[in-house]
Amino acid sequence: MKAVIFDLDGVICFTDKYHYIAWKKLADKEGIYFDEEINNRLRGVSRMDSLEIILERADKQYTDTEKEAMAAEKNATYVELLKEMSPKDLSDEVKSTLEELRARGYKLAIGSSSKNTKMILGQIGLGDFFDAISDGTNITKSKPDPEVFLKAAEFIGEAPADCLVVEDAKAGIQAAYDGGFKSAGLGEATEHPNVTYKMNGFKDLLEICK
Ligand code: BG6
Ligand code: MG
Repeated sequence: MKAVIFDLDGVICFTDKYHYIAWKKLADKEGIYFDEEINNRLRGVSRMDSLEIILERADKQYTDTEKEAMAAEKNATYVELLKEMSPKDLSDEVKSTLEELRARGYKLAIGSSSKNTKMILGQIGLGDFFDAISDGTNITKSKPDPEVFLKAAEFIGEAPADCLVVEDAKAGIQAAYDGGFKSAGLGEATEHPNVTYKMNGFKDLLEICK
């Protein structure tokens, strides 16, 4: 393995609660039922695909223009919440593991569906840390499609077979598998049948990437 490609949300930092608050605000306003279980299904899924999942519980049909407006409204709430994030939202475990992987000579990249990736990395103090960032702004298909990871591998100039993808979402493990990457899963991602390594915590990467 020559490089490690990290998912952002749920791997490097924890934005689930902010996504939840922002979607909940929108769903309440529209009178649509939404709970934590539905929120869990949004992991790794793009903003518009997430909205479609939320609208499964809606009583009415929305036009594409209305959907665009709803997604923009959710994102505005979400971005306000992201402004509260700081380097304190980067755990010592993640920080020291990233630094050790770099010291061992691995190239390090991000592969995230989020269009807010660069803002989030800036907030937590990792704005300049990674060798490449592949995110929601440079893809047309979201996970489980492998595009975001294939682009990350291309940006760092490595073959998928030489890269490890680190993911917390089953959709991300599927994307890694279909793209020809090895994967390391956290949380529910460990339940995916094609996950290469199951991790209990982020620092397990130091055992996988010797
Ligand atoms: C992923 C999150 O990283 O980014 C998803 O796991 C989210 O929950 C997706 O929907 C898109 O994020 P954003 O910031 O572009 O709305
Ligand atoms: Mg994730």
